[in-house]
Amino acid sequence: MTRILIAGNWKMNGDISMAQNLATMIASEGDALNCEYLLCPPFTAIQTVASAIGDSGISLGGQDCHAAEAGAHTGDISVGMLTDLGCGYVIVGHSERRSNHGETDADVKVKAEAAVEGGLTAIVCVGESEAERESGDALAVVGSQVASSLPDAASATNTVIAYEPVWAIGTGKVPTVEQIAEMHLHIKSVLTQEFGSDSSKTFRILYGGSVNAENADEILRTDGVGGALVGGASLKAESFLAIGRSCP
Ligand code: 13P
Repeated sequence: MTRILIAGNWKMNGDISMAQNLATMIASEGDALNCEYLLCPPFTAIQTVASAIGDSGISLGGQDCHAAEAGAHTGDISVGMLTDLGCGYVIVGHSERRSNHGETDADVKVKAEAAVEGGLTAIVCVGESEAERESGDALAVVGSQVASSLPDAASATNTVIAYEPVWAIGTGKVPTVEQIAEMHLHIKSVLTQEFGSDSSKTFRILYGGSVNAENADEILRTDGVGGALVGGASLKAESFLAIGRSCP
């Protein structure tokens, strides 16, 4: 059975010494827990984290990638550069990329396609804004993001979906378990519609947005939740490991 995925998105945080310490602490306990741990440090710290986790079984990923293999794309990172450093995953379409860099579903899809073609598992992020939630459009918005952002060749082994309501990111506000379950069920039905119901299409769907040591237990036991994408609480070994200890 696929293990629950606990992914840490460090965002733009961490110098080399912090990365070294945090990754070493996660590696010392993480793989003994009942889940798969994934660390997504900033690009500058990937190599440090790769050495710190060694062959502990902890997975490594990037926070974004460019769709092209190489070329004149100042500041961007290719899929090949990530695999070269030992990454197995890449996050694409995070709401901070969508809002800070104007990334559309089409942009996210070509990145996810490139990731999958290059041998990475793409973690495709979707999620509604507070206004969309309040106007009753959350299911429609997220359903359309799922239908438009995933690679055509998506399967359970090369693609993970992360549902991250924008209003829950870094705010301490968390949807109710009923809201999480409802959305995960909805995402599942859109995935079945788009990709069929074959067992190779039983995608992992993560929840992200203010997950912490206190609420992880309830969230990870919610129907349809296959793991968590964690921001703030992934920056301290104690809270990130506590989330892993909550894995059912
Ligand atoms: P927080 O856990 O800090 O709310 O961030 C969630 C997130 O954006 C992970 O990608």
